[in-house]
Amino acid sequence: MRVTVSNLTFGYDYRTVLKDVSFKINSGDFLAVIGNNGSGKSTLIKCILGINKIPPKRIFLDDIDITEYKNFRNVGYVPQKFDDFNYEFPITVNEILQVSRYSKFTENDKLELLDRVGILELQNENINNLSGGQLQRVFIARSLINKPKLLILDEPTVGVDKENVDSFFKTVNDLNRNGITIILITHNIHESKANLSHVLSIHNGEALFREITRRDE
Ligand SMILES: Nc1ncnc2c1ncn2[C@@H]1O[C@H](COP(=O)(O)OP(=O)(O)O)[C@@H](O)[C@H]1O
Ligand SMILES: [Mg+2]
Repeated sequence: MRVTVSNLTFGYDYRTVLKDVSFKINSGDFLAVIGNNGSGKSTLIKCILGINKIPPKRIFLDDIDITEYKNFRNVGYVPQKFDDFNYEFPITVNEILQVSRYSKFTENDKLELLDRVGILELQNENINNLSGGQLQRVFIARSLINKPKLLILDEPTVGVDKENVDSFFKTVNDLNRNGITIILITHNIHESKANLSHVLSIHNGEALFREITRRDE
């Protein structure tokens, strides 16, 4: 999926958070968004997801204005924190995926997906018994159910141990190689094993966009 952001200014109440942000990525690109805490990374993502209301002609997904965009099932999203998620409620990995799917998703699709993100053996596990890294994979699986063309990951590896971070990025790089556009919000771009194509750094509301040379894998 192509993502175009064009002179986007956005704030809450009287405070401007993003000032005149512009960038463009193409299908199969892998963008990292970096910046200090509170710099506006999640705010930008919520504009791209249509959660933050913005004026027309600022953001386009595959050349369709976000204010008119309907097919949000093309966009997979793993939020920064699972605040909206009730861990008290006993629910298995399978059940989480069931409630998130559209009708075309078959049992076989599900098994393939679980295998792809490395949690096939956990399908009947209660999510309360999972480690941070395993839970992360459940949410990645959930975000992939509807075969998105764009995957947005907001600080997905916070609280995940190094070994799981490495294998997490293997999975994400793999998805990207298969053509899914990825936007990753991350603190430590240098430590991450993400095979990036672009970096957007946000500082004092202003964003600097640059292309970087990709590793051969
Ligand atoms: N819903 C909101 N209402 C008002 N202010 C907000 C809201 N969400 C975020 N902010 C403020 O906007 C700024 C950017 O926040 P955020 O986008 O979450 O930063 P980051 O993800 O880079 O840490 C912060 O100052 C934050 O307090
Ligand atoms: Mg954030």
